[in-house]
Amino acid sequence: MHQVVYINQVCLPENYSNGFFIDLYERYPETFIVAEKDGVVVGYIMCRIESGLSGMSLRPLGIVKKGHIISIAVLPESRNLGIGQALIQEALKAMSTFYDVKSCFLEVRVSNTVALNLYKRTGFEIERTIKGYYSDGEDAYIMSRKI
Ligand SMILES: CC(C)(COP(=O)(O)OP(=O)(O)OC[C@H]1O[C@@H](n2cnc3c(N)ncnc32)[C@H](O)[C@@H]1OP(=O)(O)O)[C@@H](O)C(=O)NCCC(=O)NCCS
Repeated sequence: MHQVVYINQVCLPENYSNGFFIDLYERYPETFIVAEKDGVVVGYIMCRIESGLSGMSLRPLGIVKKGHIISIAVLPESRNLGIGQALIQEALKAMSTFYDVKSCFLEVRVSNTVALNLYKRTGFEIERTIKGYYSDGEDAYIMSRKI
């Protein structure tokens, strides 16, 4: 787990307590996935499965489960090899197989072009913008896709 925490700190301004990582791993182990190179962890993706109403247009309203990509990062020296794409594809597969999830969403900084491209390439579309979502005031896109 310390390797994942290290990658998170090197790659992202959004950092979390050790307990946060451990909690996600214990509750949703199948969607907590790492990429290894020569036995060393070089990337991770971690997710949460969340419940919400299925939508106002559906009757009767039902509770649906949604996959939420909480964080993904790949060490700089291992980027542009398809690892990020593989992590997302594996996480989507696991969401469907282990948690019977039918859709997935995530937040991304509006300026994070590399991540935006990765998400578009893996089938995500921009759903809406949340103003000032990040602690430094930057806006987030909410992106989602069906699984
Ligand atoms: C976003 C991030 C996870 C992408 O990881 P990655 O492993 O580099 O992702 P991929 O390799 O799948 O895709 C990156 C690029 O490499 C290209 N690529 C993939 N396989 C390739 C290959 N074999 N040869 C050459 N290029 C390749 C992709 O086409 C993509 O190019 P594009 O950005 O022009 O579309 C990584 O940049 C990162 O950790 N960034 C910092 C953390 C971050 O922003 N996380 C997201 C927060 S929402």
